[in-house]
Amino acid sequence: MEYKRILVTAALPYANGPVHIGHLAGCYLPADIYVRYQRAQKRDVQFVCGSDEHGVPITIRAMKEGVTPQDVVDKYNAIIKESFAEMGISFDIFSRTSSPVHHSTAQAFFKKLYDDGAFETKETEQYFDEEKKVYLADRYIIGTCPVCSNANAYGDQCEKCGSTLSPEQLINPRSALSNAPLVKRTTTHWYFPLNQYEDFLKEWIVVGKKDEWKSNVYGQCKSWLDSGLQSRAMTRDSNWGVPVPIEGSEGKVLYVWFDAPIGYISATKELTPHWADYWQQEDTKLVHFIGKDNIVFHCIIFPAMLKAHGGFVLPDNVPANEFLNIEGEKVSTSRNWAVWVHEYLKDFPEQQDILRYVLCANAPETKDNDFTWKDFQTRNNSELVDKFGNFVNRVMVLMHKLCGAKVPQWHAAIADEKDAQLIAEIKLSKVKIEQSIESYKFRDALFELIELSRKGNVYLQEKAPWKEASGIEKGALSPEEKNLAQQCIDNCLYLALQLTANLAILANPFLPFTAKKMCHLLKVVERMLDWENAGKIDLLKIGYSLRIPELLFRKIEDSEIEAQMIKLKAGLVASTQSQSTPSVAEEKETELLKAEITIDDFTKIDLRTGTILSAQKVEKADKLLQLEIDLGFENRTVLSGIAQHFSPEEVVGKQVVVVANLASRKMRGIESKGMILMVENADGKLEFVLPQNAVNNGAMVK
Ligand code: MF3
Ligand code: ZN
Repeated sequence: MEYKRILVTAALPYANGPVHIGHLAGCYLPADIYVRYQRAQKRDVQFVCGSDEHGVPITIRAMKEGVTPQDVVDKYNAIIKESFAEMGISFDIFSRTSSPVHHSTAQAFFKKLYDDGAFETKETEQYFDEEKKVYLADRYIIGTCPVCSNANAYGDQCEKCGSTLSPEQLINPRSALSNAPLVKRTTTHWYFPLNQYEDFLKEWIVVGKKDEWKSNVYGQCKSWLDSGLQSRAMTRDSNWGVPVPIEGSEGKVLYVWFDAPIGYISATKELTPHWADYWQQEDTKLVHFIGKDNIVFHCIIFPAMLKAHGGFVLPDNVPANEFLNIEGEKVSTSRNWAVWVHEYLKDFPEQQDILRYVLCANAPETKDNDFTWKDFQTRNNSELVDKFGNFVNRVMVLMHKLCGAKVPQWHAAIADEKDAQLIAEIKLSKVKIEQSIESYKFRDALFELIELSRKGNVYLQEKAPWKEASGIEKGALSPEEKNLAQQCIDNCLYLALQLTANLAILANPFLPFTAKKMCHLLKVVERMLDWENAGKIDLLKIGYSLRIPELLFRKIEDSEIEAQMIKLKAGLVASTQSQSTPSVAEEKETELLKAEITIDDFTKIDLRTGTILSAQKVEKADKLLQLEIDLGFENRTVLSGIAQHFSPEEVVGKQVVVVANLASRKMRGIESKGMILMVENADGKLEFVLPQNAVNNGAMVK
């Protein structure tokens, strides 16, 4: 379809903390590149975002800091907004879901669904804190972990042993708000029957979007749809959020994931009186940029809501990125394992484009990726500085030396094959970059840009205008020869300059600060950056004088990288120390890495494959299963703490990996000889570590 206008959204960040580079890489930077490109194409595009100011994480942060939720969102809305602005993330509006427009928009949306009978009501039992007079989300419930006896486990997870829990499993559950013991009360909520939208979603996604959406996004949607959708509660018991607009529903608010995506609509309303065109005209291209943890909400739930409401466009695409890890470890805000954008800006003032460059060049477009400071340095020094920056600087310097700082003449009569080739490369790069951006392959697009600057360097090297110049200087040339030499110099620099102007245009979506500087150096207005100018080789007019050269980029020193590594690790240490008293954690964690070992340490462990021959429960030990394992060369008895995860019948016949040289140990009167390897899946369930295909028992794992 021919689109008339484009509406780009970037996930509304929770206003419960500052933004880190994982946020930038996940959706804000790609969205910004896309939007800057579309603007340069002079297309009708709006870029909306804002902070997500409701939900449990905000109230938790408020409790932690001893302030009101409103204080929290005011503080972080400002910090986040500023970080984005400084990084050049060019939203047309950065709104907030606590705004009056948003409240009324979300309420009207809910009311329409309610009036149309789109909801089901359900009564459930929930924990209630009689002291604070509130219902508690699972995270607000604390008790003793049934697995490891940690006295401060949460109602959804024990942070100590990592078990996934439900509040029912906690021993002596109590309120994290007041420490009061809990009572159960029945409460009524409105549920959205997603199962009723399965056919619509399958038709729209499985039939319609399979080849268009990124495979990571499509794959997640497909598996949600395959496993069947269920009703989801769209309201919560809380006093922080958008009040449910129905009589008799005091103390209930809209579920944060119901109201937040409607925030895109409210933000558009705030931005322009023509908001309805962007949301309700079929010829709008709606694109949601998000991180992978938001896929189900943007591809399944929100579209089903829009469908139920009627009259809205659905997203054309949802180009979600995967996660960006830091130095090999998952980002963790509560452990302070993160690179904060506002701190980066302080430590590297005026160096926004380096970060934009590195985060795009290494973007987690198809799989999780790793940010390392070393890579940051290398990419800057060997790509931005040595290729792009070096080319532009050489051209500027040579211009001043050999052409009197004025755009030289173009002598068509002596143009050669190399010139023609460079011109062709410029035109081809434009097309490639365009195609990559339009298909959300920003890494490829950026790679092409750097390639083009590399080709520029090769061109200069091959043409070597300084050789002609020294010929002229030596004074041994005839007037005709001298004339020809100068013409060669002119042509080389004319083209190199036109390439420089092209680089500015093509770099602009990615490196807007640099593109601006280049306009300054070339003494051209920023209108030159319009995309239609890319591919032209007469952008700079003959005889036009340029400014004196200035470097576009600077090298990043080893010492700067070392300082960042120290800072990163220090943040981690500080956060672990301050968490010696239990606090309400904000997110799920991965475990800290253990201390380093050598290869010799590792080879001491004798791992063998085996098959479970029989299994039985162990009396008076509800966690243990007694297993007989065939290790090929002998059978072993192994006690394994997996009884709460597997029944004996389930495990018989399974092939496993056994630590075969572990000192034997007696438990409940039975001698256990070895240990089997297990891994916990995302739901906290244990899985056997297994070879992909069956192997002989007794085979060594190495
Ligand atoms: N606040 C959510 C998060 O950070 C994203 C909300 S996106 C929206 O994961 F669609 F809800 F707005
Ligand atoms: Zn535990």
